[in-house]
Formats: sequence, C-alpha cells, structure tokens
Amino acid sequence: MEHYFTNNTNLKSELRTINYTYGEQTLTFTSDLGVFSKDKIDFGSRLLVETFLRAKKSGISILDVGCGYGFIGLTLAKLSNTVSTLVDVNKRALHLAEMNAKKLGVKSTIYESDIYTNVTGKFDCIITNPPIRTGKETVMQFLIGAKDYLTENGELWFVMRKDQGAKSAIARLHDIYTEINIVEKSKGFYIIVCKSCWLYSVFLVQFYIGGRDSF
Ligand SMILES: C[S@@+](CC[C@H](N)C(=O)[O-])C[C@H]1O[C@@H](n2cnc3c(N)ncnc32)[C@H](O)[C@@H]1O
Repeated sequence: MEHYFTNNTNLKSELRTINYTYGEQTLTFTSDLGVFSKDKIDFGSRLLVETFLRAKKSGISILDVGCGYGFIGLTLAKLSNTVSTLVDVNKRALHLAEMNAKKLGVKSTIYESDIYTNVTGKFDCIITNPPIRTGKETVMQFLIGAKDYLTENGELWFVMRKDQGAKSAIARLHDIYTEINIVEKSKGFYIIVCKSCWLYSVFLVQFYIGGRDSF
C-alpha cells in the first residue's frame, strides 16, 4: 500500500490547487497525488498554524519537520515573517514545497531529511504535524529529537489528536521538556507546546547531584 511518506517515482501526477484564506489574505498552494492531505488543508495543520499566528511570534526561525507541500512553514513565512526551513522524506512533497515557496514569494530553505538526519543548526521553534501513520516510535523521534535543534528558550509546537495518543505522548515528553502546555483544543485535536527552561534544568541537576539537603 502506498503512503504519503513513500517515494514512488512511477506515481502519475495530477496537480491541483488549494486556496487557504486567513483574514484578508488568500494563499494558493499546489498539491499532487502522493502527498499528505492532497485535496484540502488538513484541519490539524490549519489549527496549528492559526494558533501559532495568534501567538504573534513574528520574525523567528522555525523548522517545519515533515513539511509536505509546505503549508505550515510557508504560511508562517508569509503571514508571520518567520525564517522558515522545511524538511521531508517525500521528494514529490519537497518539489511542491519549492514550487509553492516561489509562487508565494517567500524565501525558505527546503531539503530532504529523514526526520533530523540532515538538519543542522538550531531554531527558535520546531513545528510539526507528525506522520501518525509511520507509527508511535517514529512520531516520538520527531518530538523527542526536536530538543537537540532548539535554541535555549526554543519551543516545539505540534498537533495531535486525543484519540491518536496525545496524552501518552505528553506523558513521555515530560522526561525531555520541563514545560508542556496544551494551548488549544478543537474537535479532538490538541495543539501542544513544549519547552525546556534552562535554569530549571540546572536546578534539577543540582538538586539531585548536590543532594536534596543542600536546598
Ligand atoms: C501529517 S503529514 C504533514 C504534512 C504537512 N506538514 C501538512 O501539514 O500538510 C506528515 C509529513 O511527514 C513526512 N514524513 C514521514 N516520515 C518522515 C521522516 N522520517 N522524515 C521526515 N518527514 C517524514 C510525510 O512525508 C508527510 O509529508
């Protein structure tokens, strides 16, 4: 069975356009067979983008991991002036993301990467609608692995449905991040923001290494 994350070079092409309207602005994306949510913007991705836009984090650097045809990273570059980097394993999705960046007139860095394998540098925000169909362990690699690519006060933003294991993912992430908040909920989708407070981590290390009595 074909999945949206497999590379099938024999797959025929049927380009289509998708319009996305936010406030006064309408952005047009080109999509195709063989990519995630090829006919419409995914509800979870839309909720993630709009929650982020309301947080008004303009001008920061972001990494959209598992970018598909680029809806998340390119919309934020266009509407929130983020410096966006987009990665995916699906070559067709990456080609579409390049086309969409050009059409939207945004400068973004777009390249192939198996999760973080080819990613270098650090980002103020890593944002993702992770590929649930690849299985729980791969999804956790998206979420846990983000920690190594975040700046000191950087944040991981992701969307997950309650019935696709959001609560158990959050429970596992408590070992990695010091602060985890569900910042939006709609139709069973959660928008989750994780960060690590550097000072808090230092405190915890001191607390356990130095012995609780010293506090
Ligand atoms: C749920 S889709 C989200 C796509 C896009 N961000 C959106 O919101 O429309 C997840 C994406 O992750 C990509 N993906 C799957 N496995 C991956 C991996 N190992 N490394 C990078 N991307 C991967 C898929 O190709 C797919 O485009």
